[in-house]
Amino acid sequence: MQQSAEAYARAEKVIPGGVTANIKYFDPHPIFMKKAAGSHLYDADGNHYVDYLLSYGALIHGHGHPSIKKAVIRQMEEDGTTIYGTPHEGEVEMAEQLCSLYPGMERVRYTNSGLEATLLALRVAKAYTGRPKIAKFEGHYHGGYDQVLWSIHPDEQEAGDAEEPNPVPESSGLPEYYQDHTIILPFNDLESTERILRRHAGEISALMMEPVQGGYIPADQSFMDGVRRVTKELGILLIMDEVKTGFRLSLGGAQKTYGIIPDLTALGKVLGGGFPVGAVGGAEHVMEVLNPKRSYDVMSGSSSDQPRALFHSGTYNGHPTVLAAGMATIDLLQQRGVMEDLMTKTHKLRKHLEDLYKVMGVPMKTVGTGSIFNVMMTDGDIRNYRDLQHVDMTFRKRVDERLLQLGVYTKPLNRYSMSTVHTEADIQFTVDAHEKAVKNVKG
Ligand SMILES: Cc1ncc(COP(=O)(O)O)c(C=O)c1O
Repeated sequence: MQQSAEAYARAEKVIPGGVTANIKYFDPHPIFMKKAAGSHLYDADGNHYVDYLLSYGALIHGHGHPSIKKAVIRQMEEDGTTIYGTPHEGEVEMAEQLCSLYPGMERVRYTNSGLEATLLALRVAKAYTGRPKIAKFEGHYHGGYDQVLWSIHPDEQEAGDAEEPNPVPESSGLPEYYQDHTIILPFNDLESTERILRRHAGEISALMMEPVQGGYIPADQSFMDGVRRVTKELGILLIMDEVKTGFRLSLGGAQKTYGIIPDLTALGKVLGGGFPVGAVGGAEHVMEVLNPKRSYDVMSGSSSDQPRALFHSGTYNGHPTVLAAGMATIDLLQQRGVMEDLMTKTHKLRKHLEDLYKVMGVPMKTVGTGSIFNVMMTDGDIRNYRDLQHVDMTFRKRVDERLLQLGVYTKPLNRYSMSTVHTEADIQFTVDAHEKAVKNVKG
C-alpha cells in the first residue's frame, strides 16, 4: 500500500482529511484507485479487487460498460456539444421513460445529485401544503443538508426512547431551527409512527422515507401500507427516497414492488449511469407548483399578481451527456432476463455466504432485498436502526479489513451492491475470500 499511503499523504496537504467526501475515509487511510473495468477495481499499488461498493450502488452495470460509453460518445459527437443550456429532447425522452416505469411519477424535474433531488422534493411538499415541518425515520439518510442530517447514526443515549426518538444532529453547524422542524419516527413501528404523525398532523408537509433503510433493511409490507394510509388521511405528502432503491428492487423501484404510489419520488445513483444525477417525480397536481406558466419567480420576471413559483434551477439540470448515459443504463436493464439474472446472482452470493458462515459456526445473516444486501454478524432480526445496535460490528470490520487485503472491495462496514457484470468466478472468489478472512480473524 506504499503508493496509496504516499497519495494520501499528498492529498492531506490540500484536501481536509485527504477525502472529497467524509464517507470515503477509513483507517489507516483509504485506498487510491487507478483503474477500473467491469466488476473490478485496480489500485495505485497494482492490487485488484472485486468491487461491491460500485460507487455506493450507482454502477449497476459495473465500470466502463461499452454500451454506456458508446451512448456518451454518440451524444457528444451527434449533438456537437455536452450541454445546450436549453430544453432538448433527451430530457423529454427520459421523463417519458420514468413516468412509464415509476407508478408515482406523472411529471419529472432533474437535479445533479440524489441530495438535490430530496431537497427539491421537500421544498415542493412545503410549497404544496404550506406546512413548515417534515418527518423522517431514524437511521434514514437522504443527503447531507440541514433539514435531514438528523438521527442517521445517533448515539442511543441521545436518541432516547425507541418509540419516541429525539432528533440528534449528525454534524456540527446545523441550525437549531431544524431540531424543532424535523420530526423523527421509528422505522417499521407503525403504531408509534402513526401516534407521532397524528400529534403533529397539521404542521407536517412531508414524510420522507427510504422504503428500504440504507438500501438493505426493507419496510414490512404492512408498515408501508400503513404509512401510505395515515399520510394520505393527514394530508402529509409521502416522499419515497428511491435514490438507492431505484432500478435496484425492480425497474420501477420499491414503489412498484410494494404497490405503493407515493406523492413524490427522488431518484439518483443508477439513473446517471455513473454520472452525477438526480430526479424528482410526482403527481401532476403536486408537481404543478413548479410550473413557471402558472406563477412568477425571480428569474422569469412575469407579473407578480400570479402566485409565486417554486424556484428550481441549475445550470446542469437535464445534462444531455448524463441523460444519454442514464438512458443506456435503463435500456440495458430492460433487456430480456437482465434484471432476473441480477437478482439470481445476488441471491446466490447471499446464500453461499450464509452457508459458509453456518459451516464455520459464526452467527451471520445477510439482510437485503433486490440487488443490495449487507452482511450482519448476528442471528437476530434487523428491522430498524435500534436493531443494528446489537450487531457485532467489530468482528465485521476486522473481516472487511482482511477482505480488502484479499481483493474484495467493500468499504469497511458498507453494504454490498451487485452489478449485471459480476461473474460466477467473482462470486466464488468472494466466498473463498470470506472463508480465509473469517478463519484469520477467528485466529
Ligand atoms: C437514500 C439516499 N438518498 C439520498 C442520497 C444522496 O445522494 P447523492 O450522494 O447523490 O447526493 C443517498 C446517497 O447515498 C441515498 O442513499
